[in-house]
Amino acid sequence: MNAQEIRKKYLDFFVARKHQVIPRASLVPQDDPTTLFTGSGMQPLVPYLLGEKHPAGKRLVDSQTCFRAEDMDEVGDNRHTTFFEMLGNWSLGDYYKEEQLTWFWDFLTKAVKLNPAKLYVTCFSGDQLTGVPKDTESAAIWKKLFAKKDIQAKEVEIGSNTTGYQKGLQNGRIFYYDASKNWWSREGPPSNMRLGEPGGPDSEVFYDFGTPHDEKFGTHCHPNCDCGRFSEIGNSVFMAYKKTPKGFEKLPKPNVDFGGGLERIAAACQDSPDVFQISLIKPVIEGLETLSGKDYEQHQAAMRVVADHLRAATWLGVDGVAPSNKAQGYVLRRLLRRAIRYAFELGIEQHLCEKVTPIIASLYEPDFPQVKERKNDVVHAFIKEETIFRQTLRSGVRELTKIAKRNKHLTGVDVFRLYDTYGFPVELSLEEAYLQKVGVSEDWHHDFDRLMEEQKKRSQTASVGMFKGGLADHSEAVVRLHTTTHLMYQALKNVLGEHVVQRGSNITAQRTRFDFSHPGKVRPEQIKQVQDIVNEKIKEDLSVTWKEEDTKEALTSGSSGAFGDKYGEKVKVYTIGDPKKPFSREICGGPHVEHTSVIGEGGKKFRIIKEEASSAGVRRIKAVLD
Ligand code: SER
Repeated sequence: MNAQEIRKKYLDFFVARKHQVIPRASLVPQDDPTTLFTGSGMQPLVPYLLGEKHPAGKRLVDSQTCFRAEDMDEVGDNRHTTFFEMLGNWSLGDYYKEEQLTWFWDFLTKAVKLNPAKLYVTCFSGDQLTGVPKDTESAAIWKKLFAKKDIQAKEVEIGSNTTGYQKGLQNGRIFYYDASKNWWSREGPPSNMRLGEPGGPDSEVFYDFGTPHDEKFGTHCHPNCDCGRFSEIGNSVFMAYKKTPKGFEKLPKPNVDFGGGLERIAAACQDSPDVFQISLIKPVIEGLETLSGKDYEQHQAAMRVVADHLRAATWLGVDGVAPSNKAQGYVLRRLLRRAIRYAFELGIEQHLCEKVTPIIASLYEPDFPQVKERKNDVVHAFIKEETIFRQTLRSGVRELTKIAKRNKHLTGVDVFRLYDTYGFPVELSLEEAYLQKVGVSEDWHHDFDRLMEEQKKRSQTASVGMFKGGLADHSEAVVRLHTTTHLMYQALKNVLGEHVVQRGSNITAQRTRFDFSHPGKVRPEQIKQVQDIVNEKIKEDLSVTWKEEDTKEALTSGSSGAFGDKYGEKVKVYTIGDPKKPFSREICGGPHVEHTSVIGEGGKKFRIIKEEASSAGVRRIKAVLD
């Protein structure tokens, strides 16, 4: 069964169960200032989940196009994509767990005929913060469904991702995870949620591709392991709570918010973990094979990046986004440039957009009328962007290769020269350096900024880059702001997304200055959220501890590092909060305060005083304790 047929089966299945099909929403949210893109099926439905009446009734079904810019750097393996379709069905205060889990099970095992022996499920283990109990109700429903297929479904308490790797599968079928895995809200786990935000425990279904476990990810495999053996194909969220100043309160009526990735379900139906081989993507890969004269087998990573980025770009184009230097337009430009860059690697030196965009459009035209309407405009806009960018790319790459051969290293001066003389975007220099396996000076940004300022003929040139590790000294005031900066970095990630990466920092006794990657302005309400999180964490009096770790381990276990930093074999990792469930982990030389409450002594509060652009795709925040 191909992906288009699966989409149709799903919609028909729920229509037969009295659901109304609703049209997909645009990838650019219409009335939601909190985010640049529609990243999940429920996003356009938030007001209705909170209790507003939906004109189409209480049972809805759709296939929502989604885009997650934060996954851009993950693309290249067999399952990550920035663009995907999310099949969704909703009960707005109507049916609940029994119907939802049974229906999804029937859809998987009867409508698209997946082998039930390959399905594994997870449920919420309950926690004190939310006061929401362990979801034994869902587990009992799953047990019954598995039993009908003669599968004895053993329940296993697995905890978090970390304990998952320690405990392993243990012949289980139903796994209880904590809120880091089995709680859903747009903002992640309960502690990250803003007041007023709806969320709830969820129950996920995983498909077992049976590929061998890769110990690089952890000792034992478990459903949420990242080795690729298990793929999450559907998530039933029991959206029944709202965060309030008094804690987690029940919504007037409990809802179901179900989302399942169409591409992943299609891959499961092929019993092959490579989503790039499904009917909605394979023709794109074949197009790239023809254009490049190269085989997918030998060039998987590059072809996957090009295919994914052009798919995402095409859909953004369909939804009215044009390449530019701002917000959604900037992300689109970045997708196109990365696609062109990786295609260049494959030997495709022209006509990429002209040839490949129409292939992508043809796969969606029969089911989405907007694609047909917008196709020609999108292809034209992309061809124009490709022409301009190819000029830049050729001369810039040539120059960068020369520098790399000569010095085996890029400095801030090189990055500036590439930018200034060749119009080579900064981000591309960093990426190109990575592709050519040459290092970038840790403090490239300092020189770059200085030269930029000089170029703008400012009378004085700021003297930056004089500080060791970005700290003016090790005085008490500086150390407090240093720990605060770690809190702020994590808060920025929580509020804006995982694409936030540190690009530089500089701390004096008066203020912290922090540069980080982010495509657009940080909005006032997001600034407020960041401030609130930091002040909350100061109040919570979290412990600050450090440990020396192997660099590899530190980088794979989710510690933040600054881009372009070069690390030795061992690094110091600073953890804020309970090391088992840390709020923040960062590779850092210190020093730091021992407890976060020290930061707030004397009634001091964290405040962001300025947010501005620093360079292309990099924002700069200045903040104080006052
Ligand atoms: N909101 C949930 C998700 O995005 C289910 O639709 O996974």
